[in-house]
Amino acid sequence: MPIKYIPYSKNPVQGQAILNTISRSVRLLSYKDNDKVHDRILRGIPYYELIELESVGEASQNLVIRGECLSACAYLKEQAIKVDLVYIDPPFASGADYAKKVYIRKNPKLAQKLKEAEEALDFSEVAAFEEKMYGDIWNKEDYLNWMYENLIAIKEVMSETASIYVHLDWHIGHYVKILMDEIFGEENFVNEIIWAYTGPTNQKNNFPRKHDNILFYQRHNIKIFNGDEIRVRFKKSTKSGGKTALSGKASDEILEVLDAKGKIPEDWWGDIADLGKIHSEDIGYATQKPEALLERIIKASSNEGMVVCDFFGGSGVTAKVAHSLGRKFIHCDIGINSIQTARDRLVEVGANFRMLEVQDGINLFRNPTQTMDKLSTLIDGLNTRRPEGINEFWFGVITDSKHGTMPVYVPELKDSTQKVLDTVTINAIINGELHKFDTYAGEIKKVIVYYVDIEDEKEIKMFIQKNNTTMIEVELRDLKQVLDFVVIDDSVEFSLNEKGILFEVEIRSFYSDKLKQKINEFNAKKVLSANTSFIEISKEGLELIEYISLDCTHNEGIWQSDSEIKIDKNGFVSINGQKTKEFWNGKVSSNTRPKRLKVRNIAGDETIVMIEEEK
Ligand SMILES: C[S@@+](CC[C@H](N)C(=O)[O-])C[C@H]1O[C@@H](n2cnc3c(N)ncnc32)[C@H](O)[C@@H]1O
Repeated sequence: MPIKYIPYSKNPVQGQAILNTISRSVRLLSYKDNDKVHDRILRGIPYYELIELESVGEASQNLVIRGECLSACAYLKEQAIKVDLVYIDPPFASGADYAKKVYIRKNPKLAQKLKEAEEALDFSEVAAFEEKMYGDIWNKEDYLNWMYENLIAIKEVMSETASIYVHLDWHIGHYVKILMDEIFGEENFVNEIIWAYTGPTNQKNNFPRKHDNILFYQRHNIKIFNGDEIRVRFKKSTKSGGKTALSGKASDEILEVLDAKGKIPEDWWGDIADLGKIHSEDIGYATQKPEALLERIIKASSNEGMVVCDFFGGSGVTAKVAHSLGRKFIHCDIGINSIQTARDRLVEVGANFRMLEVQDGINLFRNPTQTMDKLSTLIDGLNTRRPEGINEFWFGVITDSKHGTMPVYVPELKDSTQKVLDTVTINAIINGELHKFDTYAGEIKKVIVYYVDIEDEKEIKMFIQKNNTTMIEVELRDLKQVLDFVVIDDSVEFSLNEKGILFEVEIRSFYSDKLKQKINEFNAKKVLSANTSFIEISKEGLELIEYISLDCTHNEGIWQSDSEIKIDKNGFVSINGQKTKEFWNGKVSSNTRPKRLKVRNIAGDETIVMIEEEK
């Protein structure tokens, strides 16, 4: 349950996402689920408990929040934290299913030998498999309703002088423009920026789609716009003997002066290359945006010391650039991979920040996409093939001799609006779905309804009792308990040695059941496709480790990383955020006696073990 609901400051703006009575002269946009969004907005932004996982560096107002955009907004509003600039690059409704490449690292023992022999490594043979990061598959109506809620919550935490940039593309950008007009007001629209790039394409029957749209609005019309900070040189045309596109009849001398000052870039940006062309920045996060893009936005629309926030932070590019430009930052994302990538990226540039996690039950298993994939194998007896007559509302069925076929409802975790089991959903089940079973050939005696969060269990049960006119029993079950079973920690064997003034932890072996299963699945697919490039893991398993940290300060609670190493996909190690050209030697050391050890495997699962005091 949320701790409470934080009311929106005034009645939500009237718009097509709430009202289906608004008709446009040309086209009526109607949204399914209208009442639900309306009800949710009237109820307020659900505010869940947040726990602090880690504190990096000195006390700081910078935040890295693992959780949904909405939850982060509730927290910020509750804490009266205002943001001065928002950049968001939300999932695009592009139909893509983003995957993370998981790279097996070099076995330190082998890596050392290779180094000694000064043999060149063939980096192209780094073994890898994929893991789903987040799904991006929506229908337009659901997407816009979801976006609407997010945008009005974001508006709640924007300072009076704040600006917002929403990065989208042709898939949904023009629909979101209409939402933005309603939420922020047409009068607060500043620009639609076209970010254009080039690159290979296989589009043959149209003009290749090579631009994104960035919608720029201000909260009110007292905006900050530092045009002078972002000036660029005029593009010289060689044909006109060095004259500029703006030349008109100006003399060369005037043009020289003009050019020295540069110009504010137009609202189309063709001078910022996309990630495909800047390999040095690429940290392997699908959809990562270039730093130069964020640099222009942050310089233009914020001043030093202001708070820059990205609620769909991904690789952490906004936070990183904000930090390097002397701004405060808030990075929020729902996926563990984003949080870890951003954390490590920020440690590398020496940023101080606190890491918080929203306790809303949505982050059950790395991220909602992976949790959904996993669920079908975790619910005992569940069959996701539904018999005829049982529609797609149901996730699957469980069959047993006592109850026969029991349809099972599981909320779609990728759609945060299904997170709370409320009377609206239960009403839809008992007064809608249960009656549809009339077309089913067999008899349904019972349905099972899973929830991640429930409005008020007692009240919902009473509601069912009062309103269920069918003979079908409705059983409520907590989804979190299903997942509690399966999250088995990885196991690590290590020894602690004192070497002069240093404490050295040597990892002897590492075992991850989750990764073992993944790799087995991967190898099994290779067998089927007669492909022989299997992934083999050594007896010690050290190639499954991505990151190790020692906490020499606390025995429990908030993690403080007093010493850490990170191994990149080529086996090179970064020590306390400093990149080296050394292979990892299987060790990590600290100046004081470590109390706890944290190991992150290559898929992002973290395991913490205590380091015993010497007797
Ligand atoms: C397009 S990516 C952002 C990429 C980022 N701009 C960068 O340059 O790395 C969208 C991100 O939104 C995150 N996401 C999806 N749904 C979310 C939600 N409801 N709240 C917060 N983050 C979410 C995904 O995990 C993903 O990292």
